[in-house]
Amino acid sequence: MLSNIEFMQKVKSLKEIEIKDKRVLIRVDFNVPMDSHHIITDDIRIKEALHTINYCIDHQAKSIVLVTHLGRPDGEVDENFSLKHIIKRIERLLNKKVTFIEDFIHHKNRILESDECEVFLLENIRFFKGETKNDETLSKELGSLCDVFVNDAFGTSHRAHSSTVGITKYVKTNVAGFLLKREIDAFAKALFKPVAPVALVVGGAKVSSKITLLNNIIPKVNKIIIGGAMSNTFLKALGNDMQNSLVEDDYLEEALKILKNAKTAKVNIYLPVDVVITDDIHHPIDTKIVPIQDILKNFTAVDIGPATVKLFEEAIGMSNTIVWNGPMGIFEIDRFSKGTYRIAHAIADTYAYSIVGGGDTASAADKAGEKENISFISTGGGASLELLEGKILPGFENLEKIS
Ligand code: 3PG
Repeated sequence: MLSNIEFMQKVKSLKEIEIKDKRVLIRVDFNVPMDSHHIITDDIRIKEALHTINYCIDHQAKSIVLVTHLGRPDGEVDENFSLKHIIKRIERLLNKKVTFIEDFIHHKNRILESDECEVFLLENIRFFKGETKNDETLSKELGSLCDVFVNDAFGTSHRAHSSTVGITKYVKTNVAGFLLKREIDAFAKALFKPVAPVALVVGGAKVSSKITLLNNIIPKVNKIIIGGAMSNTFLKALGNDMQNSLVEDDYLEEALKILKNAKTAKVNIYLPVDVVITDDIHHPIDTKIVPIQDILKNFTAVDIGPATVKLFEEAIGMSNTIVWNGPMGIFEIDRFSKGTYRIAHAIADTYAYSIVGGGDTASAADKAGEKENISFISTGGGASLELLEGKILPGFENLEKIS
């Protein structure tokens, strides 16, 4: 029987179908970060979709409709989340004019009458109430715009929405774009028959959000390196007084269970041996490095310490496959970013196959200047987490499969 990841790898790609003179609709994930002036601060998600869009242009599709969400406007029209703010960047990167369609339901003919490989961008699909409900009517309306549906929105493939799943019921040909393929193949390389030893480096704030991941990954890896605030819960469960540090008291038993399961599976777990502590996260007067047994009264752990970095570096250095998900501390604050950056450098310095989850972890690898030195950086935060949890992502489910 196929594993979930093998099943998703079987999706048919755009390359395997004829698109000349076809109307193509591509679900992309252009949910890009912007500053308060609506200037895009990271356009990697747009750049990563260019291959698929250009392929459709080069192969003379009749029309190409791009569909994406931006933010979470909850079915309301909200100027702050309008795609008007990103269309210029798309045009510049694509080097082609893109026609903006504000209300596709009432201007469908503008798309259906075009036959010169015109590229359209629909307004934020989450302005429609039906999108996140996977509503039939909206799915059908989207389906009526095309002969071929291409899902290239890896970052949104864990959402069963009208533009990612519902639409497939109303289109005859449903395939994967090149980004979707690249992402699934990259994760398969790390999770399905990887080169051992395999290490998971995991961090972030909460154990609760990573329990499924940890339990799913134990049989697949040789070691798990745990940092970030989530390690506080493990450390407290082992009897340490974490003082004001973020701890999920409801998950102490779960943390012990994970440690026990790892031990049974002969998976080595690495936890911090020292931490950076501070009297105040935002206005610190007193910041120190202490062994985890000696956290001062009322202080908070905010980063891993230098002895921990050494310990983690060694474990990382002796791995052949590394999956990294979650920062080691509050890296958004410069003075507490050292641990996370050192781990990014350690991963980048290995000869291992390394894969980094999207969202915060991708941004940490980027800020550490190591983006180019990691084997693969995912464009999906939530999606890559669900993939590591062992799930079949809904965005892959209804696409055609290679037999
Ligand atoms: C993301 O940024 O993770 C994706 O675009 C999905 O966005 P969502 O979490 O709002 O569904």
